Amino acid sequence: MEEIKDYNSKKEFPVSKEELFDIIFDNINVGIDVIDYRGTILYYNKAIEKLEGLSSQEVIGEFIFDIFPSFNYENSTMFKCIETGRPIYNNIQSYLNNKGEQIYAIVTNIPIIKDGKVEGVVEFALDMDSIGSLYETFNRWYSSKDISLKKGKGKKGANYYNFGDFKTNNIELKENINKLEAISKYDYNVLIFGETGTGKEILAQSIHNASYRKNKPFIAQNCAAVPENILESIFFGTEKGAYTGAESKPGLFEMADGGTIFLDELNSLPVYPQAKLLRVIEEGYVRRLGGKEDIKVDVRVIANVNRDPLGLINKGKLREDLFYRISQIYVEIPPLRKRKEDILYLSRYFIDQNAKFLNMESIKLSPEVRHLFVNYPWVGNVRELKNVIIQSMINLKVDCGENVIKIKHVPKYIINENNRKRMKKILKVNKDKSYEERIIAVEKELILEALDRADGNVSEAARLLKIKRQTLQYKIKKYEIENVE
Ligand SMILES: Nc1ncnc2c1ncn2[C@@H]1O[C@H](COP(=O)(O)OP(=O)(O)OP(=O)(O)O)[C@@H](O)[C@H]1O
Ligand SMILES: [Mg+2]
Repeated sequence: MEEIKDYNSKKEFPVSKEELFDIIFDNINVGIDVIDYRGTILYYNKAIEKLEGLSSQEVIGEFIFDIFPSFNYENSTMFKCIETGRPIYNNIQSYLNNKGEQIYAIVTNIPIIKDGKVEGVVEFALDMDSIGSLYETFNRWYSSKDISLKKGKGKKGANYYNFGDFKTNNIELKENINKLEAISKYDYNVLIFGETGTGKEILAQSIHNASYRKNKPFIAQNCAAVPENILESIFFGTEKGAYTGAESKPGLFEMADGGTIFLDELNSLPVYPQAKLLRVIEEGYVRRLGGKEDIKVDVRVIANVNRDPLGLINKGKLREDLFYRISQIYVEIPPLRKRKEDILYLSRYFIDQNAKFLNMESIKLSPEVRHLFVNYPWVGNVRELKNVIIQSMINLKVDCGENVIKIKHVPKYIINENNRKRMKKILKVNKDKSYEERIIAVEKELILEALDRADGNVSEAARLLKIKRQTLQYKIKKYEIENVE
């Protein structure tokens, strides 16, 4: 092995390339393994030991299918890579090790080619769980970040929305969004009312980007995220000496000068600062905490509330005068459960949006899943739907099934929630009936639910209910249950 030279000091670096690579491959957090063209495992690093729950002593020298019994010549991407001599990137895989443990990974296979012949494959494997938690951590960090400074230069970054990003098939909402887009360029203040996950952030950014302020700052502040005692200094700034240790610092209004300030969750702002806010909006001047002069600011205000504003006013949580001042344009986004036509429309949109990334094609929802989705309450609205679609697509992908998302691919919590709701409804609807009739109603519901979970397959539903197939068949006939197989 060739020695690595330390060219700067002209002295020899006392570590060989092989030793150095050992250090690197033992410590890298990507799983790496190598097989030869016959399938014998030659190399197995520490990260893949952890990912696959095996030690290198157990696997080196063994035949790959003996260690991973769920793989064969047909479904192994390593062998596909040997056969074709071409790399396979980021394939989502679920497989078993010889201890029966399930492994989920994102796998890349690179052929090892020498003198035109494929001698083996290097595999790089990423743990899905750690990617998932990384993704969640990132999302949590991103959405908790209470100040985001975005100086739009007309370019569309990853989190830079325009009206085209707000999708809906609800006629009334579509009309309202079109009107909003047309009026965005006029400098009116906007109040948006919508439950969590209904796209308020998309609209706020779109309005800013459709206005002549688009090249000026867009400053988003979540009102729920600021402690009451520093609210004023955050919004209006401080002057040196305002309190011990106070620095001279501009507030958000000064920072947003010329642009837009987005007051997220305005209903979390205590009533007293609301009065001060109103004054700044009305007069167009701020005075820093401890400051002596008024500073002129030119800021458009977009605010949102996640409760009905009139209810908030009645409860004394939102000042009526502030409400009138900021709702020069008022938009209401109904929750997803009240615009059922959007459920399947947006499902399709998110499927298509993610299909490319997940390298999947022509994905459909089974009739049972469509029925489930349309009747599910979606308290997390579009955000929840988007997450459920992504999770279902990943489950379908690791299942290596056909391209239909079935009940078994949908996150369990949705099914449980749906069952609870269905049972409650059945008990309520039949509450005045006889004991006998109520038992039958519940039994019918149990059968329907099992058929749903089994995607209409009677044998599978019988297995879930732990009864004989013939018994179930008999009951389906007797109760005239419609089964969509
Ligand atoms: N009509 C829509 N079309 C496309 N994507 C949407 C739509 N509504 C929401 N989304 C998506 O749902 C997620 C949540 O949207 P957004 O952050 O705008 O909601 P929000 O109303 O601000 O929620 P919260 O009140 O929880 O802050 C985002 O990923 C967004 O892209
Ligand atoms: Mg938001």
